[in-house]
Amino acid sequence: MENLFHPKEKIYHIKWSGTYCLGINIIDDQHKKILDFAKDLLANAPKKLDEERIYFKGIIGQVVDYIKIHFATEEGIMLATRFPGYEEHKKAHEDFILTVVRSIKDYESGNRMALCNFSNYTKKWVLSHITTTDIKYIEYFKEIIIRKAAR
Ligand SMILES: [Fe+2]
Ligand SMILES: [Fe+2]
Repeated sequence: MENLFHPKEKIYHIKWSGTYCLGINIIDDQHKKILDFAKDLLANAPKKLDEERIYFKGIIGQVVDYIKIHFATEEGIMLATRFPGYEEHKKAHEDFILTVVRSIKDYESGNRMALCNFSNYTKKWVLSHITTTDIKYIEYFKEIIIRKAAR
């Protein structure tokens, strides 16, 4: 499991592009919103450490909850279409949540995790997950639709 504690790194800037669009609106919108959350989290963070702590505590739950909603949406589609890679994909989601939750707990217990690291980690993870993992169930889903339409 990855550890998000490392020296403060540079902000990882991303630009949403067509490469990341998978062609199902609800999924594309959720991906964009997660990336916006990760970006805004950082952009709106107070500079003072004690203020940052309060801010972090207030917002982090919303971000994690939204990511969980997204994962549930995808898992719902995979189940409904009997996608064979369901278990593996679900495990990737769970591992991400575990890494994030563990790091939040560490942050709250006094080890400072820079918001920057959390934000960077989320952005990088989401983008690589879209292009390596989400794409698989999307392609499967599209195949099913095409097959149905040909009947
Ligand atoms: Fe996924
Ligand atoms: Fe996704």
